[in-house]
Amino acid sequence: MRVLFAVSEVHPYVKTGGLADVAAALPQALSALGLDVRLLLPGYPSVLKGCRDLGLIASLDGVGALPPCRLLLGFAKLLGVPALVIDCPVLFRREGGPYHDPYGTDWNDNHLRFGLLSHVAALLASDRTPIAWVPQILHCNDWQTGLAPAYLHYHEGKRAASIITIHNLAYQGIFPPSTLAALALPPRAYAIDGVEYYGNVSFLKAGVYFADRITTVSPTYAKEIQTAALGFGLQGLLTARAHELVGILNGIDTVAWNPLSDKHLARNYDASSIDAKQANTAELRRRVGLEPRSNAMLIGIISRLTHQKGLDVVLQALPRILALPAQICVLGSGDPALEQAWRQAASEHSGQVAAIIGFDEALSHLVEAGANAFLMPSRFEPCGLNQMYSQRYGTLPIVHATGGLADSVVGAIPASLAAGTATGFAFTPLTEAAMIECLHAACALWNQPELWREVQLQAMARDSSWRASAIMYYQVYKSLTEH
Ligand code: ADP
Ligand code: GLC
Repeated sequence: MRVLFAVSEVHPYVKTGGLADVAAALPQALSALGLDVRLLLPGYPSVLKGCRDLGLIASLDGVGALPPCRLLLGFAKLLGVPALVIDCPVLFRREGGPYHDPYGTDWNDNHLRFGLLSHVAALLASDRTPIAWVPQILHCNDWQTGLAPAYLHYHEGKRAASIITIHNLAYQGIFPPSTLAALALPPRAYAIDGVEYYGNVSFLKAGVYFADRITTVSPTYAKEIQTAALGFGLQGLLTARAHELVGILNGIDTVAWNPLSDKHLARNYDASSIDAKQANTAELRRRVGLEPRSNAMLIGIISRLTHQKGLDVVLQALPRILALPAQICVLGSGDPALEQAWRQAASEHSGQVAAIIGFDEALSHLVEAGANAFLMPSRFEPCGLNQMYSQRYGTLPIVHATGGLADSVVGAIPASLAAGTATGFAFTPLTEAAMIECLHAACALWNQPELWREVQLQAMARDSSWRASAIMYYQVYKSLTEH
């Protein structure tokens, strides 16, 4: 089974969130099952540098306003699978993030950047491909590759089956109708039965409309996106295609996220040496300037600072949280207003609240290991990875029961405690009152070390490896190729 996995970010070369973690781990898990998987990536400077042994395998012509480009093939050791890289200096060789310039503004040619990624993905998945390796499956991810199934639809000739995985429906890649010609899509594509979305072109709608199958990253989120509350205007289409939509919970990279071998920790530990975790708590407090207070539960947060993540509710509740007693360590970046609010909270509650504003992969590992509990009050969460990292590090997650958080955390209530199945704490709805009540319950359990230990061990024993999920993706691929 040959699979082309098209994606706009991959850890450790370029990462803005969980998509990069998935792009690094899922292709490897699929290849461990014996599938022949190749990544297709934009040639950002970090990718070109990371994949040193890249060789030219084809030169591709421009079309519409999409410039000509070179296709390179390499094998980056860190990715574990071969990578096809689109080298297009005018679009990809620049400093800044994959979606924003260094000042945080969207690149004004994002439609071309990701139009090209989608176009090349579709070309390689069609009988017009210039290379010998022809995939049976084109696996697209999020809006950045959403146009590929549309290009395949308008291609006359043989083509691979396509699937699109929705990692977050909130980001759709919406551009004015005038971009249609630049993207070399036929005028008839601009229709309700096509790429049109409320008077604009939506890359994600195109993918959801034209892909042969749709997956998303948890079973609960697959249901939630069929409702007006979380469907972002696509609930009708998703409901109409419900029989072709499946939710598959993400796994995590259990090698990168292993407290026994993690190089970023003050001390390594596992379930049999969990007391050593305390050394990480002390080191985290020292590193971020929190007072050493053994009676205060240390709550960790690592997050993009956006409305989705619900951290405004934590800011509102701050005095009540600190009174538990608890301390908070936030590592995050994003919305400037939220960054500022956290900086201010840290200066008002110096020694009890630490706010590290920025993206710091190494520190994120120490937060996972050092915190006692990990808070994720997301308004919606397609999957979420940090709750699973936390479980593996014996740091009990406290989550709003939505999307993948609901699917991966068994909240500690009398029944789950008695059954030995609890792996964290869950609350709903997302209100200050419900969150505080849950934090109180967590604190009460933390003050009963033996019971807390039991739940820690249950959390650490949860299987969050990719294997089971990779098998489910394989089954989706098979259902598309066996007819
Ligand atoms: P999302 O993709 O919506 O941001 P996920 O929970 O799926 O949420 O993934 C977030 C990933 O990004 C995790 O690996 C998390 O550790 C990482 N991350 C988020 N913010 C930061 C930050 N400021 N510093 C380091 N890592 C971060
Ligand atoms: C998105 C979602 C997150 C998910 C990640 C990887 O960024 O917001 O919940 O874990 O993609 O699938």
